Amino acid sequence: MKLIFLGPPGAGKGTLAALVAGLYKIPHISTGEIFRAAIREKTPLGLKVQAIIDAGQLVSDDITIELVRERLAKADAGNGFILDGFPRTIPQAEALATIVAVDAAVNFDIADGDVVSRLSGRRVCKACSQNYHVDYMRPKVDGICDKCGGELFIREDDKIEAITKRLEVYRAQTAPLIDHYRKAGKLVDIDARPASGVVLESFQKVFPVK
Ligand code: AP5
Ligand code: ZN
Repeated sequence: MKLIFLGPPGAGKGTLAALVAGLYKIPHISTGEIFRAAIREKTPLGLKVQAIIDAGQLVSDDITIELVRERLAKADAGNGFILDGFPRTIPQAEALATIVAVDAAVNFDIADGDVVSRLSGRRVCKACSQNYHVDYMRPKVDGICDKCGGELFIREDDKIEAITKRLEVYRAQTAPLIDHYRKAGKLVDIDARPASGVVLESFQKVFPVK
């Protein structure tokens, strides 16, 4: 199963991708996560993209496409994958089509107001990147990751100015992909407003585990 997860920031793409990857035994490939790991490790890529990401803008198509091309060439992506947060522009979608044919683009549908409350309440584990939410997905102990005991932090791009910018960028550059994949007959809409267990059930109705 070769899938794209589309949708505004904070729609829950990363949360669902982690669940689906475990159930369907396919890798979860998040371009945002690859960039954040590069920033943490202070690699040349990380140093180059940090200010762009913190401000809520998009990394250039050239850099992102190359990164995805290399990641999809790895053996674990041969039988399927979830591309979470890629493509995010029409040129990225066109480049992806030259690399691999995807089965579907899953569009996580949610209103802007929900996006803001999800992102402003998000907390992320410094050690393992697990997502939490101060209201919707609380850790057992405040500020500490259930999975690994790591410390939770607020992403720089989850500050309100960056959230506003990310929504603007989403509308201008990423939302046109919805029509792009609809015209290609590959779009699947999922209601992303309910709790994540319910979103997972909707997903499994369309894509049953084999
Ligand atoms: P990226 O990491 O992809 O960020 P994003 O698309 O903005 O997505 P998010 O991670 O913010 O949200 P999500 O939909 O995964 O939601 P989540 O599950 O975490 O990209 C970051 C940056 O990298 C970009 O801004 C850009 O600069 C750069 N970048 C990445 N890809 C790029 C590309 N292709 N081209 C150029 N630049 C690129 O959930 C959010 C919160 O809500 C969490 O707290 C979670 O616990 C909670 N939650 C989740 N689901 C539910 C639910 N059903 N009910 C209640 N709460 C929920
Ligand atoms: Zn952790």
